[in-house]
Amino acid sequence: MQLCCPGCRTALRHVGDCDAVCDHCETRYVTREGLLDLCPGLPGSTGMGQRFMESRRISSVYERLFRPVMTVLAGSPGYGDEERWLRRWFRPADGPLLDLACGTGRYTRLLDSWFDAPVVGADISIAMLRQAVRRSTGQARFVRASGQELPFGDGALGGVNCFGALHLFPDPAAAIEEVGRALRPGGCFTCLTCWKAPRRRARQRVATHLSRIRFLPRATIERALARAGMELQVFDDRGLMAAFAARR
Ligand SMILES: C[S@@+](CC[C@H](N)C(=O)[O-])C[C@H]1O[C@@H](n2cnc3c(N)ncnc32)[C@H](O)[C@@H]1O
Ligand SMILES: [Zn+2]
Repeated sequence: MQLCCPGCRTALRHVGDCDAVCDHCETRYVTREGLLDLCPGLPGSTGMGQRFMESRRISSVYERLFRPVMTVLAGSPGYGDEERWLRRWFRPADGPLLDLACGTGRYTRLLDSWFDAPVVGADISIAMLRQAVRRSTGQARFVRASGQELPFGDGALGGVNCFGALHLFPDPAAAIEEVGRALRPGGCFTCLTCWKAPRRRARQRVATHLSRIRFLPRATIERALARAGMELQVFDDRGLMAAFAARR
């Protein structure tokens, strides 16, 4: 699968055993502990929510404990239901698949087992990515990359999934547009995110204050999708979270 320089989007050339270099802007991207870092120097942490995601201790219990508890607190049904929803709505076009903000890689492993296409898991947290690599069972590849600047060319991807993460990004609406840029026509985008749900404002204010979670209104999500050339297919209200699917 062809990775691109996230800064100038030139195709990266592999150098040495596992590093990569951009021949246009001359940035060299280095692999450490088996993970190619495509956003070197970019701090992941922008609030308590994301600081948790970068903790070695939390990442080690994330999949078994932290994620299921947080999901229930947010009023969303949990893994089994998420999996069925994803199976129904993740209908990619041909081409590589991206599990964006893959965390410990639970959904990366699923996509890899469901589809023949190459699968990449990308996340900004080294601690989470280390767990993803440790738990990896198939062919999926993991890289450190930011959802705000994807390391893929225009129209390169057949499908993008992003579960439980968009609300942690610095600019979620711009990240939706970035997904649209990297998707090819017919490609799918599935997303589970906190949103500005009606009637839950008190809990949202607490979460925003404590962890800098960004609750996007549905209208903002829809505008970002439209700007990115994507059409909304479904928008399911799951308490503080919403699951939506769109097609390019
Ligand atoms: C709650 S976890 C979700 C992980 C996984 N998708 C899941 O459903 O279990 C949120 C993930 O988003 C990642 N993340 C936060 N900001 C990001 C960004 N700007 N770019 C890429 N990943 C980011 C965090 O490091 C964390 O692993
Ligand atoms: Zn470059």
